[in-house]
Amino acid sequence: MTLDGQTFVVTGAASGIGAATVALLREAGAEVIGVDRNTAPDFPGDFVQADLSTTEGVAAAAGQIPAGISGLLNIAGVPGTAPWRLVLSVNVFGVRDLTRALLPKLAEGGVVVNLASNVANGWSERRGQVIAFTSAEDRDAALALAAEDPEITSNSYRFSKECVRWLTLTTAASSLGRVRAVSVSPGPVQTPILEDFKMDHGRDKVEGAVALLGRAGEPADIARTIRFLLGPEAAWINGIDVCVDGGLSAHRAVADSLSVTA
Ligand SMILES: NC(=O)c1ccc[n+]([C@@H]2O[C@H](COP(=O)([O-])OP(=O)(O)OC[C@H]3O[C@@H](n4cnc5c(N)ncnc54)[C@H](O)[C@@H]3O)[C@@H](O)[C@H]2O)c1
Repeated sequence: MTLDGQTFVVTGAASGIGAATVALLREAGAEVIGVDRNTAPDFPGDFVQADLSTTEGVAAAAGQIPAGISGLLNIAGVPGTAPWRLVLSVNVFGVRDLTRALLPKLAEGGVVVNLASNVANGWSERRGQVIAFTSAEDRDAALALAAEDPEITSNSYRFSKECVRWLTLTTAASSLGRVRAVSVSPGPVQTPILEDFKMDHGRDKVEGAVALLGRAGEPADIARTIRFLLGPEAAWINGIDVCVDGGLSAHRAVADSLSVTA
């Protein structure tokens, strides 16, 4: 598949899934504009160093992106071992505000891909909190509200990705016929963040899942899915989540159901 002549903005481009996606997009003939808080030596495209945890950082990044881009890939993220305010600022407001700022710069037929997670599969159980948090215009007010909800502060990563699932739906629904929006939900993938997930979710749980699947995901497993979602063969795929977890969610759904009926 060729993505010749198209330009994609990739956040989190300096590491892991973002870096693997940049490599595949370049292979497919696309231009890339990487965005990351960290530098990326020898980056194969334009690179914007920006901190997406703040309103100012998002605005500074968006200001350097030209109009006419073919897609925005919101891949940057921080794990639940980071302070919860930072997790929600990067993973939720970074995604929401950069998307808002760049939607007018997306060419017709453009695509937004948001990195969520299979830990967010139960997002609709917290639909009320998710909608309230993502629709708050004032970040500080939203964070103050979250501070009073231990379900959010003690599971900030899961909640942040539940918000990403909702933000994907709202972007798709508000851009019908012009821009598609899709989320991708990986299971455990071998990147620097995986060690943090072990600390956050429990080493045994994560290593047990990897053993069950036979291997952890590779960044390229996710990058290939993203590349497909950007191309013409995915033109009718819009507003959904694509779970790429080697079958882990299927296993958990069946195991949970069997333990309920047993
Ligand atoms: N690896 C996994 O197991 C896994 C599973 C599910 C979801 N995800 C999600 O996939 C995405 C990519 O993660 P990864 O595995 O490649 O991890 P990673 O740590 O290798 O990459 C994350 C990138 O995001 C950047 N970033 C973090 N905070 C930033 C900020 N404030 N401003 C700008 N850039 C920032 C980092 O510098 C880094 O380059 C994340 O959103 C993560 O939550 C990963």
